[in-house]
Amino acid sequence: MTPRQPGAEAWVPEGGDIDRLREAARTCEGCELYREATQTVFGEGDEHARVVLVGEQPGDVEDREGEPFAGPSGRLLDQALEEAGIDRSRLYVTNAVKHFKFERAERGGRRLHKKPARSEVVACHPWLRAELDAIRPALVVALGATAAQSLMGPAFRVSTQRGEVYDLELEGTEVQCAFLATVHPSAVIRLHGDDRAEALARLVDDLRKAAETVEAAH
Ligand code: URA
Ligand code: SF4
Repeated sequence: MTPRQPGAEAWVPEGGDIDRLREAARTCEGCELYREATQTVFGEGDEHARVVLVGEQPGDVEDREGEPFAGPSGRLLDQALEEAGIDRSRLYVTNAVKHFKFERAERGGRRLHKKPARSEVVACHPWLRAELDAIRPALVVALGATAAQSLMGPAFRVSTQRGEVYDLELEGTEVQCAFLATVHPSAVIRLHGDDRAEALARLVDDLRKAAETVEAAH
C-alpha cells in the first residue's frame, strides 16, 4: 500500500491573501511532486480579477521560470484570449496542481509531462480553493479535464459539458460564482492543419462565452 498523502491543507495559511499563500506554497510537501520539481509554480495575475483561469499543472518551461503558462501552451492561450478579446493582464491564471510532474525520456533525458494522478489533484486542491477564496471571482474557467474535475468532481466531462455555464460553490469557502470548462491549450497544439484551426476556433468560442458570462454578471 502507498502511504496516504497528507495533502496541502497543513501548509495553507488561514485567510491568507495571494502573496501570503504564494509564499507559504513555496515549501509545500503535501504530495510527492515537490521532490523532483524545481519550484512551486503558484498562480499569477490580478488579485481582483473577475475571471480566474485554471490549467492542469506547470510544464517544463513553467517549472524553470516559476510562472504559469509561460511556455508553448501559454503562447497558444494568449493567442486564443486575444482572439476572444480578453486581456490576460486582467485575469488571474493558475493551475490545479502546483508542481511539474514528469518522466525522463529514455533517450536524451528530456523531461516529459506526465498527467497528475487524481490523488495529487486532491492533495493540491487546498491551494486552488484558497486562491479562489482570496480572489472571489465572478467566473472560473477550467482549461481541460484536470482543472474541471478538481473543481466539479471526477464525473465532469469536458467533451460533453464544455462551453456550458454552471454554478460553482466550494465547501468551507465563500466562493460562489459561475463556472465554465473548455479544452486545454495543449490539446489544440497537438493537432495540425484544419483540425487545429477548428479546435482553436472552438476554444475561442468558449472563451467568448466566458467573457459574455462575466459581463452579464455585472
Ligand atoms: N499547462 C498547464 O496546464 N499549465 C501551465 O502553467 C502550463 C502548461
Ligand atoms: Fe504541495 Fe501541490 Fe506541490 Fe503537491 S503539487 S507538493 S500538494 S504544492
